[in-house]
Amino acid sequence: MSPRTHLTSAEDVPEQGGWLFTVEEADGSRQEVFLVRLADGTAAWKNYCQHETDQELYREGVGTVMRDGGIVCPRHGSVFDAATGYCDNGEAAGSTLAEVDVTEELGEVYLTDDDVTFSHAGPADAADDGDDDDDLPDSTSHLRF
Ligand code: FES
Repeated sequence: MSPRTHLTSAEDVPEQGGWLFTVEEADGSRQEVFLVRLADGTAAWKNYCQHETDQELYREGVGTVMRDGGIVCPRHGSVFDAATGYCDNGEAAGSTLAEVDVTEELGEVYLTDDDVTFSHAGPADAADDGDDDDDLPDSTSHLRF
């Protein structure tokens, strides 16, 4: 069993809006994933619609729109079951969101999916580690001779 990665506290996942993070896929590409709160835990889904995969379900400044236990696609309005990822309506009917395995334990949410690696909290284009001098060459001004 691979080590799990702590993501956040379950109470920090809003009932409306979700919680976004980014993982690295096996091929090295980055993929956004959002957490949603369920009546009995937490689920994580890759951040794209199954009808048109360029459509994000979690949008910056809005988050994930939830309605009656479903995740609403902002483009055509299909609603995916937040617990199973399945959609039985609209343009995306018959499809299921791409799941990422997470585990909730004692109120904390962990990434437990062997197929992806945690990259960072927030959108894929966010800074990797919060260190804002990544793009700068190491300064030699701190060296003492
Ligand atoms: S893009 Fe999501 S239902 Fe069409």
